[in-house]
Amino acid sequence: MDAREIFNSPFALYYEKVINRISALRVNRWRLNLVKGVASLRPEAKFVMDFCSGAGNVGELYLKENPKAILVNCDVSKPLLGLAKDRFKGRAYCVCADNRFFPVKDSSVDVLFSSFCVRNSLNPILTVKEAFRVLKEGGVWGILDFFRISRRDIFVIANDVIFKSFMSMSKLLAPRSEAIDYLFKSIDSFYSVEEFIAILKGNNFDVVKVRSFMGGIAHSVIALKGY
Ligand SMILES: C[S@@+](CC[C@H](N)C(=O)[O-])C[C@H]1O[C@@H](n2cnc3c(N)ncnc32)[C@H](O)[C@@H]1O
Repeated sequence: MDAREIFNSPFALYYEKVINRISALRVNRWRLNLVKGVASLRPEAKFVMDFCSGAGNVGELYLKENPKAILVNCDVSKPLLGLAKDRFKGRAYCVCADNRFFPVKDSSVDVLFSSFCVRNSLNPILTVKEAFRVLKEGGVWGILDFFRISRRDIFVIANDVIFKSFMSMSKLLAPRSEAIDYLFKSIDSFYSVEEFIAILKGNNFDVVKVRSFMGGIAHSVIALKGY
């Protein structure tokens, strides 16, 4: 089972309507922080893509910062893209696409978002290379994800226990409980944020901002496509 299958099953709506809405994890604040950080770097951005947009949680926050932008939401989940279409009511495009192959021309995107996206890629390095390909020089990539934990102090361990307990509880009602097992596995086999930053730098991105949330359970990374 991979993320594409999970988010095309009834779990997709459970994710969006239940897990995502439970404020304990404060995920929308993390998204807002990412959006504001990115918007401050490119306030005039015209063409903006949200890759793995799901139902458009990031795009909705972004359009409040920059209402004139052309926003394209891309995702493989038909149920979540359906919610995005209803939500944006023509104010944004919604395209079904895999995160290894971005359906746009080279050097055409001012701002790219990937929230909880790269970790779900069947080939994260290819996703990084696609991000580089589609961004304009100086374009901004805003990433938010659960990276593998590399630093285990008491604070991180405590937050990890809270996070895993919350997600394990949500498993009780989840239509596909394997989806939560997938989440834990995908985090453990993903890069740590330090490793991911090194990959970005190795692919000619300049990393300009890194922020941790929930004591290091999640991170946002903002990178510029180098000149
Ligand atoms: C946890 S959700 C996050 C959605 C959204 N970014 C947000 O913050 O609410 C992960 C999203 O990644 C999408 N996804 C998973 N694998 C994908 C792939 N291979 N290509 C494109 N999207 C994918 C899922 O369909 C889902 O919408």
